[in-house]
Amino acid sequence: MTADTTAFLDDLMARMTLDEKLGQLNLVTGNIPLPDDRAADIRAGRIGGMLGGLVDCTFGVHGPAALRAVQEIAVNESRLGIPLLFAYDVIHGHHTVLPIPLALSCTWNPDLIEAAARVAAREATACGLNWVFSPMLDIARDPRWGRIAEGSGEDPYLGARIAEAMVRGLQGDDLADPESVMACIKHFIAYGAAEGGRDYNNADVSLARLMEVYLPPFLAALNAGAGSAMLSFAAVNRIPSHADADLLRLLDGVLKVSDFNAIPEMIAHGLGDERGGIDADDPLQTLSERALRAGVQMDMMGHGYASRLAAGVAAGRVSAAEVDAACRAVLEAKVKLGLFADPFARFDEARAARNLRAPAYRTLARQLAADSCVLLKNAGDLLPLAPEGLKLAVVGPLADDAWNLLGPWSFQGDREGAVSVLDGIRAVPGVTVRHARGADIVDDARMIELLNFAGPKVGRDPRPAAEMIAEAVAAARAADVVVAVLGEAAEMSGEAASRMDIGLPACQRALLEALHATGKPVVLVLANGRPLTLPWEAEHVPAILVSWFGGCEAGPAVADLLFGRRAPSGRLTTTWPRHVGQVPLAYDRATTGRPGSRDADPGKYTTRCYLDGSSEPLFPFGFGLGFTTFAYAPPVADATDLAGDDAVLTVSVAVTNTGGRAGEETVQMYLTDPVASVVRPGKQLKGFAKLALAPGETGTVAFRLTTADLAFPDASLRRVWEPGRFIVGIGPHADALQTVEVTWRAGA
Ligand code: BGC
Repeated sequence: MTADTTAFLDDLMARMTLDEKLGQLNLVTGNIPLPDDRAADIRAGRIGGMLGGLVDCTFGVHGPAALRAVQEIAVNESRLGIPLLFAYDVIHGHHTVLPIPLALSCTWNPDLIEAAARVAAREATACGLNWVFSPMLDIARDPRWGRIAEGSGEDPYLGARIAEAMVRGLQGDDLADPESVMACIKHFIAYGAAEGGRDYNNADVSLARLMEVYLPPFLAALNAGAGSAMLSFAAVNRIPSHADADLLRLLDGVLKVSDFNAIPEMIAHGLGDERGGIDADDPLQTLSERALRAGVQMDMMGHGYASRLAAGVAAGRVSAAEVDAACRAVLEAKVKLGLFADPFARFDEARAARNLRAPAYRTLARQLAADSCVLLKNAGDLLPLAPEGLKLAVVGPLADDAWNLLGPWSFQGDREGAVSVLDGIRAVPGVTVRHARGADIVDDARMIELLNFAGPKVGRDPRPAAEMIAEAVAAARAADVVVAVLGEAAEMSGEAASRMDIGLPACQRALLEALHATGKPVVLVLANGRPLTLPWEAEHVPAILVSWFGGCEAGPAVADLLFGRRAPSGRLTTTWPRHVGQVPLAYDRATTGRPGSRDADPGKYTTRCYLDGSSEPLFPFGFGLGFTTFAYAPPVADATDLAGDDAVLTVSVAVTNTGGRAGEETVQMYLTDPVASVVRPGKQLKGFAKLALAPGETGTVAFRLTTADLAFPDASLRRVWEPGRFIVGIGPHADALQTVEVTWRAGA
């Protein structure tokens, strides 16, 4: 803040009443047309910001003109004319729906992800928004948890690089730019550690794990200048984040907002009553005060700040200084966004016309959707398909479905403009396509009702299942190749969408088995928001392409890959288990005292893990195929004996495209600290680089390691690096590394 800004805010705050200050802390839903009571509250200075509807598209924030009218009330009709924040969950694009964040992470391409976030910012600001509840930075290692779809997977290092990119893309170089939005990093913290993968569940997480696994993406985003942070619904280590003053101190300097109604929800957590006699009859009083004291500065739809804090101040339980600090944080955010300079800058109709659904965004959407796809299997080089004269059966409940491919959190998405896989394939010249639905996405009536909460996305075919399968089998028999588009409905992932069975729904699996039984080659294209357990599929289906929820251009992007107009280059950012009983499962699991070779030695009781199956993942972290092959030379270290804090190690690797097609490889570098004072992860990602190589071409990547990369929280949680041996592994995924060992001694 400049001296001028400080003086401006000092002056403004000196003129504000306590109620007006508390008004700035009040974040409420926005409903267009604006109900009278909301308009009255804005006029009275009782609202600091509004957020779009959560459930129904018609309940959302509807574009510049309508929103401008709301801002005009705040600026022209309230006593102090303080502009409002307008927030929305812009999670993966806005009108132009881009792939879900988990999909985007599989590009391992921060520059591309930054470009995606920029598009989202342009569209959001074209609608008049100035704040987005994104990026979600929760590391997730339990695919039962539906919100795994909203984040960047299981790895803190990759998550941190993506977090920075997202913040840069959303906020641009200058938050005051009318095409920039304030990012809100969420959900602080360890929301993804929810026990059992059950959404909103609590977690018990060691502080070391918080530091090593859950914090890095947040710290990276803070370093990149993220303007705000949202707290998590969960209680971590017994304290809900909204009451955790120690934790919130880590977010000093950014605007801290509660999650939706999360302050009152601490009552159900069991806090608030019978505590020291403070208003035991009114837990919202107690908890609103506690949240403010802990450092929560805006109350999203909890209503306690607006209705209770004045009494807290009067009784001396909350200080005026605490209210002032929160109010100043909100006002500072508004200054940074340029709202005081020009509250209407984001309501420019000409810019909106230019920036909403711009054709260039569709081009980017298609690239993002293609680059997000992960090819898990391609036996006999079934892919790419040669289109000329090809008879294709395109089957499955998600083949002719563009809406579900938009994924969760796409309420403002341009549904009509979205293209299905069937239409994407039909647009390819030379191919004859026969389509059959073959199965419903799910056949359980209760599940269908739950999945349709945001609109009728999941239907039921009136025909009996056997008849649908028979139709699909007939189409398969008449075809050269079958493309089966199967997986999840959009709302099977995302918030409140945990699943205990993460395989294909039984009705779809029955279809796939019937298709397989025809003997025709089957390409399984998955639409999904999480890792799925697919052991049968991986064994029997020759080609598997994970397309996630790819957004509005998912269909053309999948067609691009199926027919080799692009090569798949995505790599998994989550470990894919064989069986749900293996979760949580991540590549960086700590070494045990009986590591052995669990799968090689299943009879040996000292090494075996499960009696009833393998303990290895089905597909490891970092894995993905293309249409060519790469050979890695052994990694070369520029020194094998290093000393001191300032030493730098460079490890290089040469990678050659040994196949017949151009391709892009994601070269991954992992570090192992084989001997330490505490048990360490078996390996940790410390670097990655993408190489685009023509057939026969060799490229070299050089990774730099410093002692910062060696450091970890020791037993007393100090970040230290411990001299000794280190192993650097480089390869195409976490389970295929060639290593080089170095010694790094203390003091030069
Ligand atoms: C979610 C947040 C979201 C908020 C506002 C909550 O239920 O947990 O991620 O930003 O709603 O829509």
